[in-house]
Amino acid sequence: MPDANILGIETSCDETAAAVVRSGEQVVSNVVASQIAMHQPFGGVVPELASREHLKAIVPVVRQALAEANHTYSSVDAIAVTQGPGLAGALMVGISYAKALAFALDKPLIAVNHLEGHIHAVLLEERQKGNRDLQFPVLALVVSGGHTHLYLAAQKNQGWTYENIGHTRDDAAGEAFDKVAKLLGLGYPGGPIIDRLAPHGDPTAVTFPPAQIKHRDRRDHRGPNDVDEMDKDRPRFDFSYSGIKTAVLRYVEIHEMRPSIESRRNALLGISGPKLEDYLAMCDKKTLDLVASFQRAIVEDLVGKTLAAARTYDVATLFVTGGVAANNELRKTFEQSGAEDGLPVYFPSRPLSTDNAAMIAAAAYPKFLAKDFAPMDFSAEASLALR
Ligand code: KG4
Ligand code: ZN
Repeated sequence: MPDANILGIETSCDETAAAVVRSGEQVVSNVVASQIAMHQPFGGVVPELASREHLKAIVPVVRQALAEANHTYSSVDAIAVTQGPGLAGALMVGISYAKALAFALDKPLIAVNHLEGHIHAVLLEERQKGNRDLQFPVLALVVSGGHTHLYLAAQKNQGWTYENIGHTRDDAAGEAFDKVAKLLGLGYPGGPIIDRLAPHGDPTAVTFPPAQIKHRDRRDHRGPNDVDEMDKDRPRFDFSYSGIKTAVLRYVEIHEMRPSIESRRNALLGISGPKLEDYLAMCDKKTLDLVASFQRAIVEDLVGKTLAAARTYDVATLFVTGGVAANNELRKTFEQSGAEDGLPVYFPSRPLSTDNAAMIAAAAYPKFLAKDFAPMDFSAEASLALR
């Protein structure tokens, strides 16, 4: 297979990222400019601000990725960019820049689905470690701020195909982490903060009712031509996290935690880059127990449903990827439960679990080989499906 150095560009949410990856198996450079500090005072991503920050950052970030890779604009073989899903205005910045580069340099342009990128982060790092023996079928859980999706991933000819066998009916798992952290006055993004606080609380202190999914999904995302008749009756493993978020809210109200939450919120606003000790000093036992119990409930639900899906579809390998895959308890629980089931579980390293452009450049490589190039008039798709 021919070698190719692909420049990846990712601007779907609040990270402006560029990377050079060789042949889908070697990260040559990987630059991520995070906007977290800018969105923090608002308690979440502000889409207009995100687009503006991407505009400012895109040129220096791409330059840095090329410089760190010892490449120039003209020495890379193709330009890959996230088409969606994500924030439309944010995606447009990366896409416009990628199109301009591809046009000016006369290089192939490759459009990549962000979720496919998360799956290829695992493949990229396994190849980089020399592991070429991944067994199929593969089940991939993509668990991030916007998605909690289960895909059966298969290699077909040179490309990949994905069958969705589960998704969240409401909030994504990362979204639940972010909303609960916001509700508890812990700041944004919630996942990393809750991850660090949870070991200091008792995960059995508060019990949450398991998520109930009683009816078929009325918002069927699949078009009439997407799935053949057989697939409609394949078992599904959907998730739901808005109930647990509401249960946390109710707990806060019943236990009159509002005043302490407000004082924590205000105190944290006054500290730049608060450390774990700062958070711990501001959290009483009740709050730490609530945080630990919330995380345990989410982790148990994610692991339980994913392993049930793995058994039903008799998969040989499990991938867990996306921002929430950085979570310590999630990793540990998946590793233990996977081992009990004799199922190998793979995660990306933490830097490649959250949004980055190396995963986009890696996912682009099979498309490069298949000459699956994007036309110059392709556009951003905020809710692009993966198949
Ligand atoms: O994949 P990602 O960087 O962006 C999206 O595609 O959404 O995921 C971001 C999400 C946020 O919701 C963030 O709170 C969550 O991943 N996250 C975590 C951790 N690190 C990031 N959730 C739990 N534990 C973590 N350590
Ligand atoms: Zn992501």
